[in-house]
Amino acid sequence: MDKLIINGGKELFGSVDIGGAKNAAVAILPAAIMASENVCVIDNIPEIEDIQCEERIMESLGCKITRVKDSVTIDSTTLVNLNANTEDVRNMRASYYLIGALLGRFKKARVDLPGGCPIGVRPIDQHIKGFEALGANVKIEHGTVIVETDRLIGTNIYFDVVSVGATINVMLAATLAEGTTVLENAAKEPHVVDVANFLNTMGANIKGAGTDVIRITGVEKLTGCNYSVIPDQIEAGTYMIAAAACGGCVTVNNVIPKHLESISAKLVEMGAEVIEQDDSVTVKSNKTVKGVNIKTLPYPGFPTDVQQPMSTILCTAKGRSIINESIWESRFKHIDELKKMGACVKVEGRVAIIDGVSKLTGAIVKATDLRAGAAMVIAGLIAEGTTEVTSIEHIDRGYPHIENKFKALGADIRRESM
Ligand code: EPU
Repeated sequence: MDKLIINGGKELFGSVDIGGAKNAAVAILPAAIMASENVCVIDNIPEIEDIQCEERIMESLGCKITRVKDSVTIDSTTLVNLNANTEDVRNMRASYYLIGALLGRFKKARVDLPGGCPIGVRPIDQHIKGFEALGANVKIEHGTVIVETDRLIGTNIYFDVVSVGATINVMLAATLAEGTTVLENAAKEPHVVDVANFLNTMGANIKGAGTDVIRITGVEKLTGCNYSVIPDQIEAGTYMIAAAACGGCVTVNNVIPKHLESISAKLVEMGAEVIEQDDSVTVKSNKTVKGVNIKTLPYPGFPTDVQQPMSTILCTAKGRSIINESIWESRFKHIDELKKMGACVKVEGRVAIIDGVSKLTGAIVKATDLRAGAAMVIAGLIAEGTTEVTSIEHIDRGYPHIENKFKALGADIRRESM
């Protein structure tokens, strides 16, 4: 077990390169299972634990996977095992994409229920509703989702909630169904579009991804292809917020500025300067920011995955901020850790009321989940004195080389074994 030791108070200067989007990559890898011919060569895959976990799962099913830096080659023609039942499957969230991918290609699968960050109840009823509408029999026995059918038939599916996971999972299965499937009230996140683009490159016929109506005309088979994953909107947002919080001038490279608009707009409202270039954004700040109100929403609204880092900077902003977390009911566990550092925050259900204090002070704090971990790192960077962030295995699940990237920007941060 490692921990991060941070001596706070350093301004950040320079540039940081953003990796491929975690939440796109964790869906694209299982989607590659659907290629019954040729290999998939996928570039810009982030070097994070969630990806390694998924690679192990896919190898346990019989896929052959090789990695050279951020490029992963997947041969799914050798896949023989339709039972995903390892501890890795139960530990990560995105393992549920194996259900849609295996159901699409083989018309059956047994996949243990997924784990993931403890941020709310996280039901999969909308995934199941979609698979059933396509004609699959779905049951859950002893913690395993069992799906099977002779044929998948395209149909109209209206999602009761906007769900990234359900949209992608049902899209996977529908790609190899007979006829046309229309997904309504679909999620519009950039990673939904990226998965659709990947499937189309493999030979699928998907239109409308990025809007709330996605039309999928089933095809008979998919074949391997070359693809590059989009940049990680959430990793980029985290470094932008860190720059605004610490003060200085940081250019965040390899991003799609359009995907960052809701974050950029809030930082500007807070008083930071955000300059957009073609594939980078520069954040300049003199550390003094003012409080703002935020409501997390599905894309293009403010992303829930950036809420925790954002609430950290608001702890030392001038005045009061109100955060309304509308996606996850338990995404304020990091607030108790921030309070150990002197933050003044009251949580009432899904709302956090933050009264800015003049400073945070270093303390021993825990990464209670992935984005909470990033929030604690930012808290350590702005705090007076030394902060130790423990349970950083959560951070390693989603942020590649976080301490090296911050160190290169001038932060005093190091990793130590506990
Ligand atoms: N929901 C249902 N039923 C379902 C599915 C979802 O009620 O069948 C509800 C959830 O309870 C939640 C809302 O719908 O209130 C949105 O959930 P969604 O399905 O969109 O979330 P997810 O697919 O499980 C992905 C990301 C999360 C991110 C959310 C929202 C992955 C692997 N995870 O989760 O990312 O917070 O979308 O954007 O893509 C993270 O990266 O830190 C992370 C938690």
